[in-house]
Amino acid sequence: MRKKLIAGNWKMNCSRSEALQLASAIIASASESSAELLICVPTIHLSDIAKLACNSHLKLGVQNAYWQKSGAYTGEISVSMLEDYQIEYLLVGHSERRELFGDTNDEVARKFSAALECGITPVLCIGESLQQREQGITLEVLKEQCQSVIDLVGIKAFNKACLAYEPIWAIGTGQTATPEQAQEVHQSLREFFAQLDKDVAQGLQILYGGSMNAANAEALLAQPDIDGGLIGGASLKPDDFLKIYSLAG
Ligand code: 13P
Repeated sequence: MRKKLIAGNWKMNCSRSEALQLASAIIASASESSAELLICVPTIHLSDIAKLACNSHLKLGVQNAYWQKSGAYTGEISVSMLEDYQIEYLLVGHSERRELFGDTNDEVARKFSAALECGITPVLCIGESLQQREQGITLEVLKEQCQSVIDLVGIKAFNKACLAYEPIWAIGTGQTATPEQAQEVHQSLREFFAQLDKDVAQGLQILYGGSMNAANAEALLAQPDIDGGLIGGASLKPDDFLKIYSLAG
């Protein structure tokens, strides 16, 4: 039986004091549940938030890191530098990274691999654009995004990873995929993984992301192949985020 994972992606939001306030509010009100709770915070706030989150069941992650261990990579933070903090998760391949910062499938795979090497769970984000959906190539695009990672690290590596399906047309638009649309894709993705390894597919947490909120989460989370959410905007509102978490438990 797969646990549900409710993950917040704060993106590039929150001053230091706002970040501490938000994290404190989440920690104070998050009761024990059968679901897992995660926030992926701006890396600069990690150290402060890690101090607040120790001894709580809130898990921490960050939104990006570079795969090389060290060297002349101005402005980057390596995955291995994050090992010293309490982070358990790393987002890789978010569509905003792919579209705005040019992260390629190959780089995403290297980041995924670097996270595993450091004992950090990678959350592989995949998603199609509206144009690709209209062209009927959604699954092709998603499989290609997964395949480059599988080629580098092997299918068994997904025993220690999560997948997040985030249709680009649903991110930050208020236009959520319907529960049926999302379930259809999640089921196809699980079947794709099952062709390579049934056990891996069965255990793989596949999160949905894209305008998930307190009002639509229940129906999405009720789908058999939706194992949680990767939540942007609503994760910045503690009441909404915790409502989604309580619906998942
Ligand atoms: P929104 O929930 O704001 O649509 O963002 C989703 C997302 O990109 C999470 O990674």
